[in-house]
Amino acid sequence: MAREEIKKRREEPLQSASGGLTNTPEADSNILKEKEENEEALNLRPRKLSEYIGQGKVVESLGIAIEAAKKRGDAVDHVLLYGPPGLGKTTLAYIIAREMDVGIVTTSGPALEKGGDLIGILTHLKKGDVLFIDEIHRLPKAVEEYLYSAVEDFAISIVFDKGSHARSYRSRLEKFTLVGATTRAGLISSPLRERFGIQRALDFYTIEDLCQVVKRSASLLQVPVDEEGVREIARRSRGTPRIANRILRRVRDYTQVRHHGVITRPVTQEALLLEGIDEEGLTTLDKRFLETVIVHYKGGPAGLEAIAAVLQEETDTLVDVVEPFLLKAGFIIRTPKGRKATDKAYLHLSASGGPKTAISEEQLSLLTRHK
Ligand SMILES: Nc1ncnc2c1ncn2[C@@H]1O[C@H](COP(=O)(O)OP(=O)(O)O)[C@@H](O)[C@H]1O
Ligand SMILES: [Mg+2]
Repeated sequence: MAREEIKKRREEPLQSASGGLTNTPEADSNILKEKEENEEALNLRPRKLSEYIGQGKVVESLGIAIEAAKKRGDAVDHVLLYGPPGLGKTTLAYIIAREMDVGIVTTSGPALEKGGDLIGILTHLKKGDVLFIDEIHRLPKAVEEYLYSAVEDFAISIVFDKGSHARSYRSRLEKFTLVGATTRAGLISSPLRERFGIQRALDFYTIEDLCQVVKRSASLLQVPVDEEGVREIARRSRGTPRIANRILRRVRDYTQVRHHGVITRPVTQEALLLEGIDEEGLTTLDKRFLETVIVHYKGGPAGLEAIAAVLQEETDTLVDVVEPFLLKAGFIIRTPKGRKATDKAYLHLSASGGPKTAISEEQLSLLTRHK
């Protein structure tokens, strides 16, 4: 990869509307998080649909929508993307804007506190622009209601004064494309959901796709990795490109300090031992989740609230970050009564030495019963 291209990526400004809207601590931390992410994004984020790896069906249908809109000289239909963090939702929003050659304004549900925050953004959109609302399931109800007519009729009604003096003024908007992203499709109200013409779920990536992600990122970052190293990183990435990129960076650092050379499988294994990422890509929190179900709740079923209480973690973190992969990889199943650990979970935990905390003989036998 030519150096010029990397440089160009760094220099290109990312527009974000969320910066000037609120200054709550949460919004601040979101902005910080966003900044960190933007750095990575500028370097590694695919910028064209053709560079976007995997998610074949989603890419195909977006490609068709983009091409058709271009032919008609129209904006792309509104798009709702859902799926666990790090699978490429934000990336797709930027790609849509770039492929359509329009501007993009990004904000998030929690950043839009009042109707006025949204109106300010909407009235400044230019023809065809993309408005990207991340975490759209956290949009306050009052703000959401403004969005209905904005996305449907490209107009908003602004009410002045109260009571008998109330007057409303209807303002026309340019036709734009709303791209919403969420980790929780289930939390989006049906009136909002129905207004998205295109709704797509992103799924965890296959190892083959993740190998491509790692290879692409390694070449952009100019770090040498051999085939087995690539595969090892891909295998341990919880089906998630963001994690693949993160692991690649950690292993790169480790290699630079300890080995000076090509990233290989053994070096990756050493580095990941240090990071607390196990053979299956499970993190410490993933394993504590499984241990809680197995040891504390004797394999389950255990309610999510109960698991969260034992782990002293937010239920949201468990639902958004931990559970989807554990379900997908077959470590747990969901039953009407709660989460149950599968045989795979027992085998995996006992193979990796069981829980680190002190446990009773009886608990140990629960863990090792499959041995
Ligand atoms: N399909 C993909 N191909 C290559 N890299 C990807 C892909 N999807 C995501 N990534 C990488 O993963 C990172 C996280 O993606 P992002 O779009 O921020 O995820 P999300 O918004 O779903 O949390 C991006 O910066 C990008 O480098
Ligand atoms: Mg995102």
